[in-house]
Amino acid sequence: HRISLIGAPTDIGAGARGASMGPEALRVARIAAVLHSHGLEVIDRGNLSGPGNPWQGPLHGYRHLPEVVAWNQRVHEAVHAELAAGRLPIMLGGDHCLGIGSISAVARHCRETGKKLRVLWLDAHADFNTAELTPSGNIHGMPVAVLCGHGPQALVEIGGQVPAIDSDVVRQIGIRSVDPGEKRFVHEQGLEVFDMRYIDEMGMRHTMEQALMGLDEHTHLHVSFDVDFLDPEIAPGVGTTVPGGPTYREAQLCMEMIADTGRLGSLDVVELNPALDVRNKTALLAVDLIESLFGKSTLMRKS
Ligand code: ARG
Ligand code: MN
Ligand code: MN
Ligand code: MN
Repeated sequence: HRISLIGAPTDIGAGARGASMGPEALRVARIAAVLHSHGLEVIDRGNLSGPGNPWQGPLHGYRHLPEVVAWNQRVHEAVHAELAAGRLPIMLGGDHCLGIGSISAVARHCRETGKKLRVLWLDAHADFNTAELTPSGNIHGMPVAVLCGHGPQALVEIGGQVPAIDSDVVRQIGIRSVDPGEKRFVHEQGLEVFDMRYIDEMGMRHTMEQALMGLDEHTHLHVSFDVDFLDPEIAPGVGTTVPGGPTYREAQLCMEMIADTGRLGSLDVVELNPALDVRNKTALLAVDLIESLFGKSTLMRKS
């Protein structure tokens, strides 16, 4: 694999400031060197730039919509360029609104190359709000809905095709906080959700077997890793903590089972907020898990 790191230092879609420092915290946690130590070629493309955070309230149900559009256009172009060059982009967020630019780029690449797409959304939240449903106006709570065609025109059409993805390519894992209207919409749209109740009852192994079912050699697997997926006891450095997330071992197994498919084609690492972290431990944990996602194992397999 030839990996390209793309920093997207913004917190434009979030309700707390600080995710804009995520890319640098991941670099300080040595993300490039760690991946390189597993024999992967890694190029750090540096950071994209975009508008600052005006820190205003919602307007017509959206906070900072023009700025969110600008950042996502840049993320879309950067991620698409890496995929077109045959590389594996890792988008270092930044808040989760950036999944719109990233995943629309992956979807476009799949259309251009005749690949099938599967998106794993690792998150405490469904991020399936719309302007009508959102309690906050924060666009990081809306990217899945936008990608499925529900949202403001400037965002839904970023990938050049509306909707950017079909809702049936998405598997959500770790979900434990969904707003009331959002919950109705998730059911109505038939999103496939493996929530914490499911993981508690069935275990992470069975959950991942289900979420990864049907992948083949023509599938491009995209992982959108919202760091608040993890239990806040181990990952405090996020703006929207929700108790009761996957443990360290469950998260490792999740990443290892994704690695075993050999289909990973792109990754987002989002919502890491160094302003809320403790001695960079959440960034270090994220890098540790990303190592497993790229095939690090202990004794049972090589490398
Ligand atoms: N559901 C809440 C909202 O819409 C929280 C969303 C949190 N999303 C995230 N990517 N951390 O405001
Ligand atoms: Mn989240
Ligand atoms: Mn590809
Ligand atoms: Mn999220």
